[in-house]
Amino acid sequence: PAAPPCTFVIFGASGDLTGRLLTPALYHLMREGLLDPGFEILGVDRVENNDEGFRKTLGEALHTLGADAQSGIDEDAWGRLAAGIHYLTGDFADPTTYEGLAAHLAGRDKATGHANAIFYLAVAPRFFAPIATALSSAGLLQESDTAFRRLVVEKPFGTDLASARDLNAKLLAVASEKQIYRIDHYLGKETVQNIMAFRFGNGIFEPIWNRDHIEHVQITAAETVGVERRGRFYDGTGALRDMVPNHLFQLLSMVAMEAPNSFDADAVRTEKAKVVEAVRNLTPEDAARVVVRGQYDAGTVLGKPRAAYRQEPDVAPDSRTETFVAMKLAIDNWRWSGVPFYLRTGKSLAVRRTEIAIQFKKAPAVLFRDAVNAPTPNLLVISIQPDEAISLRFAAKVPGREMRLGQVEMDFRYAEHFKAEPQTGYETLIYDCLTGDPTLFQRADNIEAGWFEVQAIQNLWAGLTTPPDLYPAGSDGPACADELLERDGYQWLPLN
Ligand code: BG6
Repeated sequence: PAAPPCTFVIFGASGDLTGRLLTPALYHLMREGLLDPGFEILGVDRVENNDEGFRKTLGEALHTLGADAQSGIDEDAWGRLAAGIHYLTGDFADPTTYEGLAAHLAGRDKATGHANAIFYLAVAPRFFAPIATALSSAGLLQESDTAFRRLVVEKPFGTDLASARDLNAKLLAVASEKQIYRIDHYLGKETVQNIMAFRFGNGIFEPIWNRDHIEHVQITAAETVGVERRGRFYDGTGALRDMVPNHLFQLLSMVAMEAPNSFDADAVRTEKAKVVEAVRNLTPEDAARVVVRGQYDAGTVLGKPRAAYRQEPDVAPDSRTETFVAMKLAIDNWRWSGVPFYLRTGKSLAVRRTEIAIQFKKAPAVLFRDAVNAPTPNLLVISIQPDEAISLRFAAKVPGREMRLGQVEMDFRYAEHFKAEPQTGYETLIYDCLTGDPTLFQRADNIEAGWFEVQAIQNLWAGLTTPPDLYPAGSDGPACADELLERDGYQWLPLN
C-alpha cells in the first residue's frame, strides 16, 4: 500500500547522496505506486537554487545513475515525482531557514489538512545535532494527529563511543526515540533481511545453528574501490570506524541473534543488541593479538593500476590510517561459546564481495581415513553482494569404481529466481520511515553497543607508532590477516 502523504525534507540537497541514492530510491517507490500522490520533496541547502533548477538537477542525476539496464526510466513515474519537487535555499545555521521551512509546512497543512514531514539529514555529521536542535527550536519536531515528524540521521553516527553517546543525548533531548531513524544502509539490502527469513523460516537450519555444529564463521566485506575522492573523510576515519561497528556488526547480529518473539521493531532490535553486548570485550592485549590492520600499496585492481593509499588525494603522505582490518571475536553466550567469528573488510582488494561463510564441523573421518578422501567441512555461504545468493557445499561421491569424495555446491541465486530489479537498498528504508516502521534502523543502544566493542581497538591503535602492514592493491589483503586464521587452523575463503 502507498505510504501516507509526506513532505520529504532533504538537508544537504545539493550533496552527492541526494542524486546518487535518494532520488533513484524515491523514483523506484513512485514507480511501484508506494508513494502517495501528496508526496513531495523539499530540498534544503546553502547552494543557491530554485524549484525548477532542483527538479532539473535531480532529473539529470536519475537519468544518468538511476536508469535500470533493461527498462530505462519510466517518464510517467518520474513526472509524478518531479511535480512535487521544491527547493529552499538556506544556511543550516540560519534561523530564517527554519522559518521558511515552517511556513512551507504550514501552507501544506492548510492546503491538504496534514503536515507530515521527514527531515532527512544528508549532511556532514557536524550538522546532525545543530539541525535537530534548530528544528526543535522552530517547533518543527512537535507532532500532532495530522503531522508526524521524523528525523533520519545518516552515518557516521559519532567517531567513537563518547561522541556517539553525546550525539544520542543531543538528539534525544529534542526528539523521542521513535522519531529518530538512524540509517545503516546494510539493513536495507534484501539479502541481509533474508538472513532472518533463511534462519527462522526454515526448519532445518536453526537446530544446527550453534556451537555443537558450527566450527567458525567468517564475515567479509571486500571492496575494489579505493578512497577515491573521500580522502579527507577517510584518512581521519579508517576501515575500522567506517565499516565495523555499523555494517559488519549488523551482519554479525543477523547471523548470531536469537529468534525474536515477533517482527516487532523493538523485539528484533533487542535481540540484535544482545548479540553485540555478548561480544567479549577486548583488552588492549587481546586487541593486539586478534585484530590486524593493513593499508593498500600500489597495485592492480581489476586490471587497472591503482596508486598506493598514501598517494591518493587528500591523504597524508605518511598516513597510518588502515584501509583493511580483520579481527577474531568471541560471542560469550550459550549458543556461541567457543565459536570464533572472523571479520574482515578492506578497500582496493581483488574483488567486491560481501559474504558470510558458516563452516560446519567435519563429519568423523572413520570411513575416509586417507588424505585423498578426507571429508572437508560443509560450508554455507550467504552472499550479500554483488551476487545475492546462498550456496551450500557438501561432499559427494566422484563417479567411478572407487569411493572418492568430491565437493559439490547447491546454489540459490536471487536474481535468477525472483527476477527482481536491482534496488539501492534505500527504497526499503525510506518506505519504512514513511510508514513508521523502525525495525531496520538502529536504536540508540545498538549504535552505542557497536562503538563500545571497538573502543579498545581504537585506544590501542591511537598509541601505536608503527604503520599498518602494506598489501598490494588488488590482493586479498595483508599477510597478517591470513596468519590470524592460520593460527587456529583455518583459512579465509579466497577472494580471487
Ligand atoms: C559506507 C562506507 O558506509 O559503506 C564506504 O562509508 C563503503 O566506505 C560503503 O564503501 C560500502 O557500502 P556497499 O553498499 O557498497 O557495501
